[in-house]
Amino acid sequence: MLSKTLLAVVAALAQMHSAMAADGLYDKGSPVLQIANKKQLNTLINTSNHTSIVEFYAPWCGHCKSLKSDYEKAARSLAGMVNVAAVNCDETRELCSSMGIKGFPTLKIVRPSKSSARKPMIEDYQGQRTAGSIIDSLTSQMNNHVVKVTDATLESFLEADENPKALLFTEKSSTAPTTKALATDFLGVLALGQVRSKEQKTVDTYGVKKFPALVLLPGGGKEPVVYDGKMKHKEMLAFLSQAAEPNKPVDINAATPPKKKKADKEKEKKAEKKTETETETAATTTSSTPTEQQTAPVIVQGAVPIPTVHTLDKLRSSCLGDKSPTCLLAFVGDETSEKKTNTQNVLGHLAELAHKNAQAKRASFPIYAVPASNEASKLLLDALELGTDSQDQLHLVAINARRGWWRHYKGGDDLSFAAIESWVDAIRMGEGAKEKLPASLVSKVEVKEVKEEPQEEPQEEPQEQVKEESKNEPVDGGEVKHEEL
Ligand SMILES: *[C@@H]1O[C@H](CO)[C@@H](O)[C@H](O)[C@H]1NC(C)=O
Ligand SMILES: *[C@@H]1O[C@H](CO)[C@@H](O)[C@H](O)[C@H]1NC(C)=O
Repeated sequence: MLSKTLLAVVAALAQMHSAMAADGLYDKGSPVLQIANKKQLNTLINTSNHTSIVEFYAPWCGHCKSLKSDYEKAARSLAGMVNVAAVNCDETRELCSSMGIKGFPTLKIVRPSKSSARKPMIEDYQGQRTAGSIIDSLTSQMNNHVVKVTDATLESFLEADENPKALLFTEKSSTAPTTKALATDFLGVLALGQVRSKEQKTVDTYGVKKFPALVLLPGGGKEPVVYDGKMKHKEMLAFLSQAAEPNKPVDINAATPPKKKKADKEKEKKAEKKTETETETAATTTSSTPTEQQTAPVIVQGAVPIPTVHTLDKLRSSCLGDKSPTCLLAFVGDETSEKKTNTQNVLGHLAELAHKNAQAKRASFPIYAVPASNEASKLLLDALELGTDSQDQLHLVAINARRGWWRHYKGGDDLSFAAIESWVDAIRMGEGAKEKLPASLVSKVEVKEVKEEPQEEPQEEPQEQVKEESKNEPVDGGEVKHEEL
C-alpha cells in the first residue's frame, strides 16, 4: 500500500510534468501574443485589420530558442502596428499539422485583405530570423489605408463623409508605418490623409510650418487641432481618439468575429478601389526601427478639445443608457452666425475645465459637444423643450439618464469660465434644482436602435485566396520598409 507521502510525491510529480509540458518559450509577460488553439488563431487571421506574423515552434528546438530574443524585440518594436504571435506546436499538434508545418520554427505572415469581404493572404516568411529583418519585412507588408491628399483632391477628401478626419503633412512621398497603423486603427471611423509639403495651398490652409505635422479635423464645425506630441504611434493614437473611437485591437478570445453587413462590404470595395489607384513612389530608406521615430519637439500638452459625439448611437451608449453616469453636453448648433465665437469660447472653457479637474485628480463628468448635425441634437432639445430655435443656440445641459434628471445652464449671457465652472461645481456637489428627465426620452432614443443583420456564412479557407490576391495586389513596389515620417 502506498503511503500518504508517496502519494503526495506522485501527485506533485504529475503536476510538475503537466506544468513543464505546458511551458512554451514565451512567458506571460512576453510581448509576443501567444495562441493556444485553433479558435484563437482563426480569430487572429479572420478579424485583425493589422498584418500579423505567426511563429510555429517547439519549445525544445534550438533554432526556436535562439530566435526568441529577436522575436520579442520585433514584437516590442511593432507593438500596436503588427501582431507578433506564436503557437507552441507541442501543445497544439493538430493545429500545426493543419497549417502544414513541417519544421520549426516556421514563420507565416498574415496580411488582411484591404476589403474585409475577401480573405487574408498567408505566406511563409522567408527572410532572416533577426529582429531587423522581421521588422523590415512586416512594416513593408502593412496595409495602406492612408489617402494621398493633394491641393486638387483636398476638397473631395473633406467631403467624402461626415466622419472626423486627420491630415499628416510630410516631406516624404512614402507612407510611414506609424501612419499606416493609424489609418488601420481608425478604419471606418476617421479617414487619415497624407499631404506632401509641396502641396502649398493645403499647407497654407492649415498653417503648417514644420514637417511632419498632424492636424485633426474633428468635424461638426470644430476648428482643426494641431498635434504637439511625439510622432509615435501610441501618442498619436491617443490624440486622434479625442475625435473618434479607434477600432479595438484584435481580441483572440472574442466569441465570434463580427460579421460585415452587405452594405458595408460594398462601401469598402469602393473605398478600396480608390486607395489602390494611389500609388506610392520610393523615397530614401533609413535604418531606424519604427519605434525610434524622429520626435517633434515635445510641448507640454495643455487642455485637449472636448470630444464631439457625431452619432445618436454614440450618445446613447455614453450618456443615455440605464447605467450612464452624469454627462455634460454642449449643444453647439450650426456654425453660421456670430454665435460661432461664443461656441468656440465655451468649448474652450469646457476643455480647460476638464483639464483643470484632471490635473487636480478631481473626478469630472464626461463632457461632449453635440453638433446640430447629430440627429440626437434635435431629438434631445425637443424632448427637453429648449425652444423652437434651439438649433441655432448654444445649450449646456447636464444629464443623468440613470437617475432620470437633467439640468440646464441658466447663466444667461454669462458664458465666462468662472460662471461655467461654478455651475459644474454645483452639479458635482449635488446642489441646485434638478429637472425630471422626460421618460419618453430614453425610449424614444431606443426605438432608433439599428438592428443587427443575420450573420453570413463563413467563407472558404484563407490560403486559397493567396495566389489570386498576390496577382491583384502587387506589393507596393520599392516602398520604403520603415522610415521616419
Ligand atoms: C476563420 O478562418 C479559418 C481558417 O483560418 C476558417 O476555417 C474559419 O471558418 C474562419 N471563420 C471563423 C468564424 O473562424
Ligand atoms: C476592422 O475594420 C473594420 C472597419 O472596416 C471595423 O469595423 C472593425 O472593428 C475592425 N476590426 C478590428 C478587430 O479592429
